Amino acid sequence: MSDPDPIVESVFDAVAATAPEIRAALPGRRVESGTDNPSGESVLAGDLYADELLADALTAVDGVGSFVSEEREAAVDAGGAVGEGAYAVAIDPLDGSSNLRSNNAMGTVVGVYDAPLPATGRDLVAAGYVLYGPITTMIVADDSGVREEVVEADPAVGDDDAPAVSRSVVEDDLRLPDDPLVYGFGGRVPDWPDAFTAYAREIEDELKLRYGGAMVGDVNQVLTYGGIFAYPALVDAPEGKLRLSFEANPIAYIVERAGGAATDGETDILDVEPEGVHDRVPLYVGNEGLVERLQSALD
Ligand code: AHG
Ligand code: MN
Ligand code: MN
Repeated sequence: MSDPDPIVESVFDAVAATAPEIRAALPGRRVESGTDNPSGESVLAGDLYADELLADALTAVDGVGSFVSEEREAAVDAGGAVGEGAYAVAIDPLDGSSNLRSNNAMGTVVGVYDAPLPATGRDLVAAGYVLYGPITTMIVADDSGVREEVVEADPAVGDDDAPAVSRSVVEDDLRLPDDPLVYGFGGRVPDWPDAFTAYAREIEDELKLRYGGAMVGDVNQVLTYGGIFAYPALVDAPEGKLRLSFEANPIAYIVERAGGAATDGETDILDVEPEGVHDRVPLYVGNEGLVERLQSALD
């Protein structure tokens, strides 16, 4: 087991410290902000709040040289030469924010890259996500494996510098179960290409539907129970919906380290070469056998 990377640990210290503040801010930020993000999607007040909090926290981490967010067109220079000792951090501040109105799971996704962005997922040195469910949990993956923590606001803990948050590791070697149990496929069924629809019909006969509309919640079902999550290429949107830099790559990195696989239908997600930090990519991720069947089905 390699020693933890101090910059990576500081990144996830900062992310964990913001989690209770973001969670506490959600009730009052369920409304539209009146603006769109670089992907052309409407932004909620919760998206902007989480983005601001995480930008301040992460650009202040020694060793973070650049900050990219779903909610910002370009990277924020945080000082330090990315790829020469400093890392670039890409985040989805609030994933599944359309679940805010319906009070369902959502989260924050983080990718830590050892290269200037846009970069391939092979340049990731760590990735993780916070899941705002009935419990706030945080998944952290690096080259030593995947761990799950419970993150709680704890007024008794902390001082002026270290915000009051307590963390407890509940799983220190998270692995995908061998026998898959659940599936969750995004997009509208009429928009699925025929080959994916045929694959989905097979999977529907084998597994249980678990689709909640937030990637982090749906992927957490797959990590917990085994199975497959997909936001597929659609007939009118062959690039799908999810963004490579701060959604598909971090999830692919986590699931690969937990023993699974992730593809865009042809190529491993982590090998996809992006042109821009907001590039979209189809995402199929979960147990290797299910992902391999998917790739054959789309051939
Ligand atoms: P975000 O809220 O960051 O834009 O992400 C939403 C994404 C992802 O979380 C989820 O898998 C997908 O959108 C759901 O899309 P549909 O609403 O089309 O199902
Ligand atoms: Mn998202
Ligand atoms: Mn988002």
